[in-house]
Amino acid sequence: MASKANGPAKRGQGDGKTGAADAASAIELLEADHREVEALFEQYEKLEDQPKKEVLALKICLSLQIHTQIEEEIFYPAARKAIAKSELIDEAIVEHAAAKKLIAEIETMEVGDKLRDAKVKVLGEQISHHVEEEENELFPEVEDSKLDLAELGQKMAERKAELVQQLEREGDIA
Ligand SMILES: [Fe+2]
Ligand SMILES: [Fe+2]
Repeated sequence: MASKANGPAKRGQGDGKTGAADAASAIELLEADHREVEALFEQYEKLEDQPKKEVLALKICLSLQIHTQIEEEIFYPAARKAIAKSELIDEAIVEHAAAKKLIAEIETMEVGDKLRDAKVKVLGEQISHHVEEEENELFPEVEDSKLDLAELGQKMAERKAELVQQLEREGDIA
């Protein structure tokens, strides 16, 4: 675990493998999610088995839904108040909206749809662009602000656990 929670511009520390989720700063938590979903997209590229790819595509969609919801409910509103460049938040929300359209299309696809690979690939490209902007532009602004990232991280971890439980109850997560 990196020693301090709130220093400026420490990329790549949020590997998600260290410490309890509730001890991570808001940014560590989001970066851990980013690494996790990147790994899922990579895994998808390598898979050949169609049924497994379908399951994985849905898993990618779900983890993106949880992640974007936590950002939109908790992280973005707090960041908007704390930083000067609110256009970064506007842009992020527009990018989320575009991703959500594609996610909805992937989730409602018929089994064996020929466009699934293409849609997952384009979604991956969009997300990778979005993640780059968050990590290189938005997060440094937030890290330089007065936001209490430990407290925010705690809130986000709690909300994430709640959403995961809710999805489990609804049967979306096995
Ligand atoms: Fe985002
Ligand atoms: Fe994100």
